[in-house]
Amino acid sequence: MQLDDLYRQVIMDHYQHPRNQGVLAVDALQVDLRNPSCGDEITLQLLVEDGIVKDVRFRGAGCSISMASASMMTEAVKGKSVAAAMQIAGEFHAMLRGESTEDEENDLGDLESLHGVSKFPARIKCAALAWDALEKAVRPRSADSPN
Ligand code: FES
Repeated sequence: MQLDDLYRQVIMDHYQHPRNQGVLAVDALQVDLRNPSCGDEITLQLLVEDGIVKDVRFRGAGCSISMASASMMTEAVKGKSVAAAMQIAGEFHAMLRGESTEDEENDLGDLESLHGVSKFPARIKCAALAWDALEKAVRPRSADSPN
């Protein structure tokens, strides 16, 4: 099997069988974010306790890349510290910008399947949507404040 075919299978598996899709029943950080390019939206909920992402859920409507990326993101950050989640987010964004090689992505797991998106600028926002929501959810509130 070609690597591209394997990557395609991983993406389609997450799209057709999304992990951590749904709604958290408890109070959680929530972010609604829209991809300005297409209008697709995602709602992300994070339950953070003692600096750890205890639980995470997403829902929304979007293309296969955006929904698969959201599913992979939830798996990658669940149970991690917020700092570790932000580090993964940084590495993922670097991959999307084409700033890392596939060899350097050996700890990104299924996320490596989205490496090819870096060659398609129009799809980068799709893959980044859930990650932008993640960063917005954990950003200190003062960062959104005009003061
Ligand atoms: Fe809308 Fe990909 S086309 S998120």
